[in-house]
Amino acid sequence: RMELWLVAAIAYFCGCFNGAVIISKYILRDDVRRHGSGNAGLTNFYRTFGGPLTFVVILCDVLKAVIAVLIAAHIGGGFDPRMMPDMPLSTEMTVYYVVLFKYWAALFCLLGHMFPCMFHFKGGKGILSGGTIVWMIDWRIGLVVWVGFLLLFLLTKYVSLGSVWAGASFPFATWYFYPDPVIVLLAFLLGALILWKHRSNIVRLIHGNENKFSVHRKKN
Ligand code: G3P
Repeated sequence: RMELWLVAAIAYFCGCFNGAVIISKYILRDDVRRHGSGNAGLTNFYRTFGGPLTFVVILCDVLKAVIAVLIAAHIGGGFDPRMMPDMPLSTEMTVYYVVLFKYWAALFCLLGHMFPCMFHFKGGKGILSGGTIVWMIDWRIGLVVWVGFLLLFLLTKYVSLGSVWAGASFPFATWYFYPDPVIVLLAFLLGALILWKHRSNIVRLIHGNENKFSVHRKKN
């Protein structure tokens, strides 16, 4: 259906606005992907540069996710796949399509963030944008993902351990709250993407040499 591809294109386009790449490349003139873990994300931006521009990175990655999902929800709310509808869609079906379109937008927004076409397909790992989207899908899924993330991060100081929890718990939380095969499949694809993007972090976590979070100090 045309609407689905329209949402996919808009969400991918929004996702491509990778805050860490844009701010580092065009404002600091020093691509974040050449530093630290090489990742174009909030964690590596803060690790490398620190400072108030970190908030601009947050704003960019949060805002693009919000815009992508709001557009998807709007289009999903008017979606009706029937050929000759004689009655309006039931409220349950409309709600279903809104949720489905949100998951669909989440997938393409994260694909844009992780593989941005205008930045040589080298982007981030999708935690900040994905972590924004979960709240827009369902606050209960937001709680499952975020409480686990924060607990693991605060207890161990490994951002990536929290991120692995986020990627792994999201599909199962979705399965629990929205046991629909298409939505669950999209959630597992999203979770798999996030975990795959964290594969080097997982190896480092296993070997005990993962970077711990620390407050950024300016080099002299
Ligand atoms: O969300 C990114 C974080 O989980 C890991 O980032 O730069 O340590 O690989 P980084």
